[in-house]
Amino acid sequence: MPNTGKSRLASSKAPARRVNRKTSGGSPSPGLHAESKFAIAILAAGKGTRLKSRHPKVLHRIGGRPLLEHVVRAARQVVDPTDIFAVIGREAERVRQALAPTGINFVLQTEQRGTGHAIMQAHNALANYDFFLVLSGDVPLIRPDTIRRVRDFHLHRAAAMTILTAEPDDPSGYGRIVRRKKGGRTTDVVAAIVEQKSATSAQLKLREINSGIYAFSSRPLFAHLDELTTDNPHQEFYLTDMAAILTGAGETVAALPASDPAEVMGINTRLELARLDSLLRSRKADELMAAGVTIYRPETCMIDSDVSVAPDTVIDPFVQLLGKTSIGNECHIGSYSVVTDCELGNHVTVRPGCILSEACVAEGAVLGPFSHLRPGADVGTGAHVGNFVELKKTRLGNNSKANHLAYLGDATIGDNVNIGAGTITCNYDGVLKHPTRIGNNVFIGSDSILVAPVTIAPGAYVGAASCITSDVPEDALALSRSPQVNKLGWAKKKREQRQAAGNK
Ligand code: UD1
Ligand code: MG
Repeated sequence: MPNTGKSRLASSKAPARRVNRKTSGGSPSPGLHAESKFAIAILAAGKGTRLKSRHPKVLHRIGGRPLLEHVVRAARQVVDPTDIFAVIGREAERVRQALAPTGINFVLQTEQRGTGHAIMQAHNALANYDFFLVLSGDVPLIRPDTIRRVRDFHLHRAAAMTILTAEPDDPSGYGRIVRRKKGGRTTDVVAAIVEQKSATSAQLKLREINSGIYAFSSRPLFAHLDELTTDNPHQEFYLTDMAAILTGAGETVAALPASDPAEVMGINTRLELARLDSLLRSRKADELMAAGVTIYRPETCMIDSDVSVAPDTVIDPFVQLLGKTSIGNECHIGSYSVVTDCELGNHVTVRPGCILSEACVAEGAVLGPFSHLRPGADVGTGAHVGNFVELKKTRLGNNSKANHLAYLGDATIGDNVNIGAGTITCNYDGVLKHPTRIGNNVFIGSDSILVAPVTIAPGAYVGAASCITSDVPEDALALSRSPQVNKLGWAKKKREQRQAAGNK
């Protein structure tokens, strides 16, 4: 069993990051005090077998963010990222890369042999601290306030282990808290945690569950961690067994009930993933509505946690606002539109069925129905993008219009330009992409083909159905379609011939 030696507490002279707040009253524990060094460990190495996924469990998303990122964000509100240690294992490199921008530390658990084993791997990192919290990468709704409460309660209670507990409507699947009894009455001291699979039928009736969130004092924990065994149905080292081990050693193991059971719900199955996702979505919608946004049928909308929407914007049913999208005030977002990582100014109208990704839309612009803005689309003030119009890496200037059936890629289009129905920028020669430049006040007639690289100077006209292969000078008319031929009486003669043939 690796890393289970006696604890090495950081010397009091070691450079330390201190707990910078007051405890919640009472006298602090004899071993720990308000200045004790404090860290947060996040268990995130597990296989996630019950999700039946090829991908690491903690990278599955709710509210548009990986599960682990939710936990790290909460932890970062309480301690510096350098005092956060995520234990990773399953597809560790992917997890590390996804969370690297948060600045936290990673500890590798190459073989996933249980939650207790995960803490054994983090022994070297955590023994530098006087006490630490353990969070679970699959318990994503934990709030910073609750983390602080567990930390303060642990100090106040002078405990070796503090367990955050809850009483959800359905406790099945969770470890149950067995409290010590004294004189026939239940105390706040925990005798043991029993896992669902090992629990007796009487224990299964216990309503109080283990949230998987704990505080541990480093000295007693690391003094007894090597007493964990794999004597259980999964043959794993269960961190939960530390409750009975520490109680047996005469240490204090305390339980702190969570104020909101929803906050400590874990995700082990796809059903639980969907439930917590929808909980986050409804919280987000509530938050936006409280801040002045109208959302009709909020239960049908999917709004990611990082989205911002300003007051008096109206969101119709079945809208998705994803990623880091920000939307100004007085906008209207029509049904079935999916907006990802976009910036929309004030008074923007998005009619139904638009797909917008990594695009900027300025004040008063009107999009849709069925417009497609791809990354790098930049729609100017008061501009119109209509049905079946696709923009990619294209600036459409102020008050310019592309109202129907067009593809505009790698183009810079000035102000007050009219792009006729069916216009296509031919930006790709099979190898390279080329730019199209269209000046202010240009009129592009319908069904025009603009073969890039090409420049249409300000004020120019392009006649409908032209194929433009060279630059058009300022204020010129460019026409490249073949001249029209009218054969007088031809149609009438044809009809008469057909009729004659039919009469035979
Ligand atoms: C665990 C608790 C259970 C509690 C529940 C709360 C144990 C034995 N049981 O059960 O009492 O009610 O959480 O949600 O701890 N992990 C590792 N390395 C491993 C195994 C797991 O890092 O070797 C991580 C997982 O990625 C996960 C967390 O630890 O984030 C919990 O593991 P999981 O298998 O989900 O435990 P539960 O069955 O949910
Ligand atoms: Mg779990």
